[in-house]
Amino acid sequence: MRVDIISIFPKMFSAVLDESIIKRAQLKGKVKIFTHDLRDYTLDKHRKVDDRPFGGGAGMVIQVEPIFRALQAIKRKIKGKSKVILLSPQGKRLDQAYAKKLSGCRNLIFICGHYEGVDERVRQHLVDEEISIGDYVLTGGELAAMVVVDSLVRLLPGVLGDKNSLNFESFEGNLLEYPQYSRPAKFKNWPVPEVLVSGDHDKISSWRKQEAIKRTKERRPDLPPHQLYP
Ligand code: ADE
Repeated sequence: MRVDIISIFPKMFSAVLDESIIKRAQLKGKVKIFTHDLRDYTLDKHRKVDDRPFGGGAGMVIQVEPIFRALQAIKRKIKGKSKVILLSPQGKRLDQAYAKKLSGCRNLIFICGHYEGVDERVRQHLVDEEISIGDYVLTGGELAAMVVVDSLVRLLPGVLGDKNSLNFESFEGNLLEYPQYSRPAKFKNWPVPEVLVSGDHDKISSWRKQEAIKRTKERRPDLPPHQLYP
């Protein structure tokens, strides 16, 4: 997979992209991620990428032209088709199913919005999908882009070492994850459930299923009925 991210704060990304599993995924060649400074694509001598909204009103709007030019330049470097995604609170809400769908794409280009928004012509003519990471407003699309990229890179084949860690995690089959414990078995007066140290793998497996179902019913009754454990 190739990911291109267009932003006016490209330096924000290194903290996330150059660490941990995403970094390893890049080193393993599972994903290539490029960040682009939108200001490199403006014709303005002050590298300005925003202007006042037509019709008046507060704030500034990111202009269509630098985004158009950035996309043109990036698409020239990409072999094959790409999906252009705008991060904004007006987009379709990200969930695990959506992340899974996106993880099947070969080329993704993310545009991070800012200020009062982006010129509507970006949405109308340049963008294929618009994604929100939740019903709250961030100062810009950068953190949202990192969340989206993180959620889909870890789904790429070969990125997570242990296949099982994908199978039984939260939201697989619309179930939250079962509780996990590790050493020491005895700490203060806080015991680990007996069954987990019993060595009986059938019992452990059914305990985990029950716990996952119980937790999902308690915490997320809004999730559609799970399919894994009818
Ligand atoms: N930009 C600002 N807020 C956002 C959100 N909730 N999701 C995606 N992009 C955003």
